[in-house]
Amino acid sequence: MKIVIFAAALRKTSLNRLLAIQSVQLLRKETKHQIDYRDFHEFEMPIYNGDLEEMSGIPEGGIRFVEMLSGADAIIISTPEYNGGIPGALKNALDWASRHEPVPISGKPLLLLSASPGSLGGVRGLWHTRVPLEALGAIVFPEMFGLQKADEAFGPDGTFKDHKTEIRLEALLRKFISVSERLTQN
Ligand code: FNR
Repeated sequence: MKIVIFAAALRKTSLNRLLAIQSVQLLRKETKHQIDYRDFHEFEMPIYNGDLEEMSGIPEGGIRFVEMLSGADAIIISTPEYNGGIPGALKNALDWASRHEPVPISGKPLLLLSASPGSLGGVRGLWHTRVPLEALGAIVFPEMFGLQKADEAFGPDGTFKDHKTEIRLEALLRKFISVSERLTQN
């Protein structure tokens, strides 16, 4: 099984990127599956515009996004919460990806993570993020992971300061992998 993981964040010091990278470390320790970590900068693309699509189809960044998702058996996204919802860059990338046939996340298991300096860990935004993902046919894992006070959660080497956070994330990743293995029979 190939598991693709990325943070839907562009900041150099993104907390969601740190969370995605910690998830990669744990997954590599936990499983024999192929783990493909990708940087969201690879997928920068213009805002969806039907005229642009008619003229030149899905833009290059969107094609790379589609290719990444098409090649995945399971997907993990760590995304910030913006104003209680999905960040525009992720929604835009999904809108472009939805113009590809087949829709590249349809029927695929998908796990949502979020890191926020706030006390809810971005989980409010994940409920909103589920909606377009499920509309596109992804099998979004019922449990989600919110890292609260994420600006205080990582040490200088990017690992979690509190071992309990690692245990909580590891347990969720293990559950997600086990369900994904059954769904994809891989
Ligand atoms: C935020 N942030 C934020 N945090 C939160 O917990 N709930 C929210 O609704 C919002 N809304 C929001 C909107 C916008 C436009 C910005 C720029 C930020 C704060 C956000 O969680 C924080 O900046 C994170 O650090 C962003 O994620 P990265 O870039 O660190 O991965």
